[in-house]
Amino acid sequence: MTATGAREESGYSLGHSPTEIDRLVLQARLYDPITTQALRLAGLGSGMRVLDVGCGAGDVTFAAAGIVGPTGAVTGIDAAPAALEVARARAARGGAEPGGEGEGAVSFREATLPDVTLEEPVDAVIGRLVLGHLPDPVTALRRLSRLVRPGGLIVFQDFDNHPLRVVPATSLAGAVLQAIAEALTVDGTDLGAGARLYSLFQEAELPPSGLSATTPMGGAEDAVILPLVVQTYRALSTAAFRTGLRARETTRRIGDVDSLLDRMRSEIAEARAVVIMPTAVTVWNSAPECAKRTS
Ligand SMILES: C[S@@+](CC[C@H](N)C(=O)[O-])C[C@H]1O[C@@H](n2cnc3c(N)ncnc32)[C@H](O)[C@@H]1O
Repeated sequence: MTATGAREESGYSLGHSPTEIDRLVLQARLYDPITTQALRLAGLGSGMRVLDVGCGAGDVTFAAAGIVGPTGAVTGIDAAPAALEVARARAARGGAEPGGEGEGAVSFREATLPDVTLEEPVDAVIGRLVLGHLPDPVTALRRLSRLVRPGGLIVFQDFDNHPLRVVPATSLAGAVLQAIAEALTVDGTDLGAGARLYSLFQEAELPPSGLSATTPMGGAEDAVILPLVVQTYRALSTAAFRTGLRARETTRRIGDVDSLLDRMRSEIAEARAVVIMPTAVTVWNSAPECAKRTS
C-alpha cells in the first residue's frame, strides 16, 4: 500500500511539539478502548487492509492493527513529519502496548488530505479527530471514499465537546474546563464536530450505516482524566489564550499550572465530583456503491 500527498503543513492548531504528542498519547489511553469498540461495531475485522488518515502518533493505527490481526495491514498517514517520527518509533518498539502480539503489520507515510492516492483500494478508511481540522471535510470524505473497495468501510470518530463539565460543579475544575472550551472556540475548533459527522456523511453522499456515541467520565481517582485535562489546558493556554481577553482573565483565576493537577484533584475529591469528558461520536458507511462515485 502506498500513499502520496502534498508536503504542506496541516491545519492542526495544537502543533506537534513533544508536549502535544504526549497529550495525544494520554488522550488515546482514555479513548482507545472506545475507538476499538466502535471500529469493531462498524465492521472492521480480521485480515482487512486499512488506511488510518490523520494518524498523529499512531494510536488508532495500532488499535486497528490489533483488530485486523496478523493477516491484515494498517497504514497511517499524516501531514506532520514530527508525528510520523513518533509513530514509527512506537511501531519499532511494538506499538501502543509494547509486547502486544497478534497485530497486523503497520506502516506510516506522509500525505496531506485530501490529496491521497493509493496503488490499490483498501478494505477500510478510518480516522479519529481529523475531519474537524479540515477546511472542507465533505470533499475530503468524498475523495477518501474512492480509496475504499466496493463493499468496504469508511469510519470516522470525532469529539462532541458539549458534555464537558464537572458534576456537581466545582470552581477550579469548572474554570479549567470553561477555559479549554473558550480556547478551542478562539482557535476555530468546532466543539460539535462529533455530532456533525452524521450530516457530513450525508452531504458526502455516504449515508451512515451506523453510529455510536460514548462519553467517558471519572472522579479524582481516575488515572487519566485529570492529567489529560491539565495537559490540554497547558497546551491551549500557551497557544490560543493569548488572543482571548476573557480566556486571559480565566487563566489568571486558575493560577499556576504546575500545581493545578494537585489542586484540582483535592477539590474534586472533596466535592465527590465527576468530570464528564467529550463524547466520542463514531459514524460509518459500508460503501457498496463507492465504485460508482465520481464527484
Ligand atoms: C488531533 S490529531 C489526531 C491524531 C490521531 N488520529 C489520534 O486520534 O490520536 C489530528 C491529526 O490530524 C493531522 N492532520 C490535520 N490536518 C491534516 C491534513 N490536511 N492532512 C493530513 N493530516 C492532517 C494532524 O497532523 C494531526 O496529527
